[in-house]
Amino acid sequence: MAFTIAIDGPAAAGKGTISRAVAEHFGFAHLDTGLLYRAVGRKMLDGTAPIEAAQSLVAEDLENPTLRSPEVAQAASKVAVIPEVRAALVDFQRAFARRAGGAVLDGRDIGTVICPEAEAKLFVTASAEVRARRRHLELAEKDADVDFDTVLADVRERDERDMNRADAPLKPADDAVTIDTTDLDIDSAVRAAINAITARKGTP
Ligand code: CDP
Ligand code: CDP
Repeated sequence: MAFTIAIDGPAAAGKGTISRAVAEHFGFAHLDTGLLYRAVGRKMLDGTAPIEAAQSLVAEDLENPTLRSPEVAQAASKVAVIPEVRAALVDFQRAFARRAGGAVLDGRDIGTVICPEAEAKLFVTASAEVRARRRHLELAEKDADVDFDTVLADVRERDERDMNRADAPLKPADDAVTIDTTDLDIDSAVRAAINAITARKGTP
C-alpha cells in the first residue's frame, strides 16, 4: 500500500528530525529531498553546470560528507531556483513517494508540487532565531567555527530565496497542518506530528 506523508518547512525547523521519527513510527521509508539539491549545489561548487548536475545525479552523490556545510546549503538554494534543476529531480521523488509500504518526504515543495495528493501533509516551522540557534549548535558540535549572526543571516537569506522563487516556492499547502516547533522540544514536536497524521487520515 502506498501512503505518502509530506513534510515541508524552512531551514532547521525540525523537518528531518520529525520525518525520521515519523518514518520509524509508521515503518515507512524516508527521503530528505534537501539532499538532492545539496548534491547538485556541491557539484556546482566543483564546476559542473547545475542543470547537467541534476540530470546526471547518482546515489553516491548523496553520500558526499560535505553536503551539510553552510556553503553547500547556500549553493543548494541557488540551484533550487532553476526550473530545469527542479524538473530533473521530480520523477525520482514521485517514485519514492508512491513506493509500496509508505514514504515520508521532507523538503520545501512536497505537499504543494511533488505530492499534491499526499495522504498527510505537515508544515513544520519555528522562528528564525530559534532555527538559527539550533543550526549554530549543530555546527558547534561539529567544531565548525561559525558565529551565531552568520548562521542567522544565512538562514534568513535562504528563507527569502526559497519563499520568493517563481517555481515551487516554500509555502504551506492549503491542506497542510502547521506545527510551530519554536517552543517544542523534539519529543513534543514528534508527538504533535504523529497525532496530526493519525487524525487526518486514520492510522496508515
Ligand atoms: O530538517 P530541518 O533542517 O528542518 O531540521 P533538523 O535537521 O531536523 O533540526 C535542526 C536541529 O534542531 C537539530 O539539531 C535538531 O535536533 C534540533 N531540533 C530541536 O532542537 N527541537 C525541535 N523541536 C526540532 C529539532
Ligand atoms: O536542512 P535545511 O532545511 O537547512 O535545508 P535542506 O532541506 O537540506 O535544503 C537545502 C536547500 O535546498 C533549501 O534551502 C532549498 O533551497 C532547497 N530545497 C528545495 O528547493 N526543495 C526541496 N524539496 C528541498 C530543498
